[in-house]
Amino acid sequence: MPLLLDEINQLKNQCLSTLTTITSLESLEQFRITFLGRQGSIAQLMPRLKELSLEEKKVVGPAMNSLKQEVQEAFDTKHAYLEKKLVEQQILKQKFFDVTAYEPHAIKGTLHPLTYIYKKVQDIFISMGYAIAYGPEVETEYYNFEALNIPEDHPARDEWDTLWLDVPGLLMRTHTSPVQIHTMEKSELPLAVIAPGRAYRHEATDATHDFMFNQIELLVIDKNISLAHLLGTIKVFFRKFFEKDDLEIRVRSSYFPFVEPGIEVDVSCPFCKEGCALCKRTCWIEIGGAGLVHPDVLRCSNIDTKKYSGFAFGFGLDRLTMLQYHINDIRLFSSGKLEFLKQF
Ligand code: PHE
Repeated sequence: MPLLLDEINQLKNQCLSTLTTITSLESLEQFRITFLGRQGSIAQLMPRLKELSLEEKKVVGPAMNSLKQEVQEAFDTKHAYLEKKLVEQQILKQKFFDVTAYEPHAIKGTLHPLTYIYKKVQDIFISMGYAIAYGPEVETEYYNFEALNIPEDHPARDEWDTLWLDVPGLLMRTHTSPVQIHTMEKSELPLAVIAPGRAYRHEATDATHDFMFNQIELLVIDKNISLAHLLGTIKVFFRKFFEKDDLEIRVRSSYFPFVEPGIEVDVSCPFCKEGCALCKRTCWIEIGGAGLVHPDVLRCSNIDTKKYSGFAFGFGLDRLTMLQYHINDIRLFSSGKLEFLKQF
């Protein structure tokens, strides 16, 4: 009998001293399995009670019970203590969380290439006195076409492959020109704005076409505005943009129902003198459409055409960005590919 009593005492001491060394909930669980579990050391002593006489059982039985009870209590106390400590640590972590702390392998974000180029364009126009105007990407047929002198049965509508919405009369704007109308309706005259934004077309995509792209629209309305103002503005802008004082522009006749006359603008290739891949060996690069605002468009926005005239110009931000960074596929812009974006 003294043997079993000794073993009980030894086990109790072992349990209690082991518990004092435990510092984590994981090792406490390990302790529970080893000593208090169904197959644990304490449970394994139990069957040996049966071997004892009644007298012996009277002494060893209570000792066995107190072993179980004391170890369980010590375990519970330790468990509560460790859990409390964990919560405290989490609160401390939140309290002292340093958002500016340096993390060695963190990925450093950069601006999207389109954003860099747009900022450069915007800075130049702001320095020339322009304001920024915005319009919705979901447009009505009125703003995207009718108010721009393109009535329902006009064949020029075919120039803009339109993404129509399920709601009759609503579409994804096919160009930023509807912002011209919103601006004329809202602003005092004279006015000079640029309108940047996305436009959408229902067309098959390839390296130079995407169903979504970015345009920048220019609109100036004042007294005695002529083509000379338009051409001068375009030339000054592109000279500043490409940082080339000898950059030239040329115009070709074109047709857009909302301008008269309508022109297509090219700039002399800023990258070469005798022809390169970017200008397709022609030394000229196509930039966008422009013209003097059609009197019907002005009248539609209640502008007195005897007093005022204006010019408009629309060009592609994607194309300008592709030229500047020598990017050969427009679809990369919305691809979300990190290996592409990390280069800027
Ligand atoms: N909105 C025209 C297009 O997307 C471009 C343009 C703008 C033409 C302004 C003339 C004047 O094709």
